[in-house]
Amino acid sequence: MRYYENLSKLSENRLPQRSYYIPENEGAYTLLNGTWRFHYYPLDIDVEKDIKEWDEIPVPSCWQILGYENPNYSDMDYPHPVDPPYAPDENPCGVYERDFDVTNTDNKTYFVLEGVCSSAKVEINGKYVGFTMGNHLQAEFDITDFVGKGKNTVRVYVTKWSLGSYLEDQDFFRFNGIFRDVYLLSRPKNHIADIDIRTVNNQDITVKFDGEAKITLLDAGEVLETKTAKGEALFHVDNPVLWNAEKPYLYELKFESNGEIITQKVGFRTISVSDKYEVLINGTPIKFQGVNHHDTNKDNGWCMTDEEIIEDLKLMKKLNINAIRTSHYPPTPYFLNLCDEMGFYVILETDLETHGFNLRYGNDKVRHGYDVESEDWLCNKPEWKDAYVERMQRAVERDKNHASVIMWSTGNESCYGPNHKAMVAWAKSRGDDRLIHSEDASRKSDRGDDESKKNVRELHPEYYNERYEVDVHSRMYTKIAGIEAYAVNAEKKLPYFLCEYSHAMGNSPGDVYDYWEVIDKYPKLVGGCIWEWADHTVVEDGVPKYGGDWETELCHYYNFCCDGMVGPDRSFKPGTFEVKTAYQPIRITSDFDKLLIRNRFSFTNLNEYTLKYAVICDGKVLSEYEAVLDIEPLSTGTLDMPADLPEICERGCFITFRLFDKDGYQVAICQLDLEVEAKKIAKITDLAKLVEGDKEIVASGDGFEYIFSKIHGAFTSLKRDGKELLASPMRLSTLRAPVDNELFARKLWIRTEFDDIGENMQSTFNKVYSCAVKAGNIVVDASLAGVARTPYLYYTMIIKIASDGTIEYTTKANGAKNVCWLQRLGYEFELAENNAEFEYYGMGPTNTYCDLHRHATVDLYKSSAQNEYVQMIMPQEHGNHIGVKYIKFDNGMTFEADTPFETNVSLYSTKMLMDAKHINELKTDGKTHVRIDYKNSGVGSNSCGPSLVEKYKLYANNVEFKFTIKF
Ligand code: GAL
Ligand code: MG
Repeated sequence: MRYYENLSKLSENRLPQRSYYIPENEGAYTLLNGTWRFHYYPLDIDVEKDIKEWDEIPVPSCWQILGYENPNYSDMDYPHPVDPPYAPDENPCGVYERDFDVTNTDNKTYFVLEGVCSSAKVEINGKYVGFTMGNHLQAEFDITDFVGKGKNTVRVYVTKWSLGSYLEDQDFFRFNGIFRDVYLLSRPKNHIADIDIRTVNNQDITVKFDGEAKITLLDAGEVLETKTAKGEALFHVDNPVLWNAEKPYLYELKFESNGEIITQKVGFRTISVSDKYEVLINGTPIKFQGVNHHDTNKDNGWCMTDEEIIEDLKLMKKLNINAIRTSHYPPTPYFLNLCDEMGFYVILETDLETHGFNLRYGNDKVRHGYDVESEDWLCNKPEWKDAYVERMQRAVERDKNHASVIMWSTGNESCYGPNHKAMVAWAKSRGDDRLIHSEDASRKSDRGDDESKKNVRELHPEYYNERYEVDVHSRMYTKIAGIEAYAVNAEKKLPYFLCEYSHAMGNSPGDVYDYWEVIDKYPKLVGGCIWEWADHTVVEDGVPKYGGDWETELCHYYNFCCDGMVGPDRSFKPGTFEVKTAYQPIRITSDFDKLLIRNRFSFTNLNEYTLKYAVICDGKVLSEYEAVLDIEPLSTGTLDMPADLPEICERGCFITFRLFDKDGYQVAICQLDLEVEAKKIAKITDLAKLVEGDKEIVASGDGFEYIFSKIHGAFTSLKRDGKELLASPMRLSTLRAPVDNELFARKLWIRTEFDDIGENMQSTFNKVYSCAVKAGNIVVDASLAGVARTPYLYYTMIIKIASDGTIEYTTKANGAKNVCWLQRLGYEFELAENNAEFEYYGMGPTNTYCDLHRHATVDLYKSSAQNEYVQMIMPQEHGNHIGVKYIKFDNGMTFEADTPFETNVSLYSTKMLMDAKHINELKTDGKTHVRIDYKNSGVGSNSCGPSLVEKYKLYANNVEFKFTIKF
């Protein structure tokens, strides 16, 4: 057995975890980040004592990023056999070495590693100091007895795997190395080690520490009180300014002891649960408008600089996010300092996930999934108890002084057993008011092959427990109907928290706003965290890569790591704005002549913001207003409905509201439809001449000639003034390039490698049963069918052509019985230009779908095919607009309708978007690809979340789709 496989010795000589701080006095802190000597051994048993050849690498770093191994992305699967506590014998080891100077040998010297994966054995000047495991947990060693004045050498042996790897099966790239800060501390003898600071009843501060110190309490730099204390101290503040995420306020405690200065920030806040099962901060209910945050950098793997962390948190603030689950391990301590200062509610998760046990028996149907009764799960094994409890302790002891930490979390996806209970019991025994979170605690066995197991995440409360040893009932990806069912059930007596929901992969999430309609309605629903913040990727040659892109990956999970609400470079996509809108501080509705403005803030009056709004008719501003509203937190105020609204309009009349903060940043947007009557498009009365042949019907008139193919049942040519407008026939179709969240649904439509079900719409045949001129109209009876399948859609088209060339299209369609729902339904054609420009009246300017549009407004926009492109790591459907009543291309071709339709204008064909697996594979073909759609289904969040809600699925039942083409 190797040292990193021994459950009875999880570390050696690592100091007990203390609260995090860096002493501020001169010479106390020496950062050892920078260039280190490095030698990579494919087998750790081959490591030599006397290493002659060294590479030089930057630290912190991940050795896969530096080219020592290929990256490997795995979700659930352990990238090694499941044979705990053993690591594979073929276990690589990276040896790190550098020199450092010690000037003060009267002081004690400590060596601190803030993050190293997997096990790390430390040597100073060739002598063994100790070892540690636990990737994202701090490890500190006392090296006083190993160092001398002047030059010293530290060497760290980092193995790829250890027994700790069994507890670190998070869904991410599997990286190794010293990936966080590494430093020395030089401290006086008899220094303080641990400091435990608590605020009590929002008036007192209790301090417990080892040693003696002069302690000063400061408020914005001003001394409130100073006392000298031993072991403990009490401070009292009358009416302190309280801390909350909206208005974070921090006091400071300065400890001076033996010449050392340590400052800790203190926020006054209480955490409690109301009798309505709300989570209260300082007695006021809050909702967690959260996101799951992993450390990820497109060029550096798990390594994030302080600047990058600041950037993440600033962006979150701008997106109205107020809560962060540190999925699925503690962040760097600096991250939490910022959360205290900037204001976030943190669900601090320890470094623990054993998800791969779900798959440990491969195809065995019984021993699969969360078979909680199985002895195999490490949470059930007594010999693993210390490893579990230690992970909770190390996280809690490090981060206990942070005002931002509201919940301690036992980890993620690890089943639930006695070892978890021991973690929970230990955390509770500390007696602070943090809530204890464990999604695993809600899980009962989902063993067995029955129907309900398949839908275990959906609406099967019988599979979920309320366990009262934890403080919130936490679940992931529950349907909206499921959270509502919990909310109205009086038997359920815990706040309900969605630790993950709205899987933001690719062009999504399509359901986030709807969740908040329900969460806001019920006190017991306390919010949740989007899965997840940023896409994980490794960029190679400018191309973002994902699982399966490297030959050496023994198991991987494709592009499931690209599921962020922001891109790997933190770029925004439409779904980012949708989250921002769901989380925005206001909701506006109307009630006859009143506008009702609901302030969703818990602690902020809306008078700190300016509401600007305008009546916009047919894309033109009719009147504009500005108001500063004195509306208390969590209450609703009113405004008068603007007067003099028009009685009739061309296309639509709306009020668009925008809320701005003091710096002029727009925090919220919303739009109300004034439902003003719109003029109808004039009916065609004067028909063009049609000449019907065997294969074609030709319509012509002044300046136009159109050819309608009786074989294709479609226009194959539209010529205006001798110029051809179409580059391909205008055909009815139903396919779009699946979005990531159609991972499961896609087999309904597309044949995948081994699937033989579904409608095979990837190769659709269009059958025209009859096509003829009847009463001056072209009338077509036709169907669509996939290869090897009976027709899935029957349709009739009635086409009227006016003497001026205007075309009126009426399409009636019905799905064949029992046929699945469709991704979309409408006409597709190509324009001969590469990047057509156009203007449209509809929901924009970003792409919109029936379940992803709350961030957008109906207006008159100008755009181009290029401008419609939304980059996603794996190319997919994008660029749709709903609520369209008018679209005009630069060649004059104009589509209009009385009933809103949907459009999509793209540089890429559907096939191109489906074939390309990475952004560099996308190629333009010199044409513009246009869709004029009746409707699209929503995008949802079903790759991990629940299946698409029925109301967002398009079923072709008695479809009637009308539009007019003008020139
Ligand atoms: C959850 C899990 C996350 C992530 C997500 C899918 O089940 O907790 O870590 O894997 O699914 O993206
Ligand atoms: Mg997992």
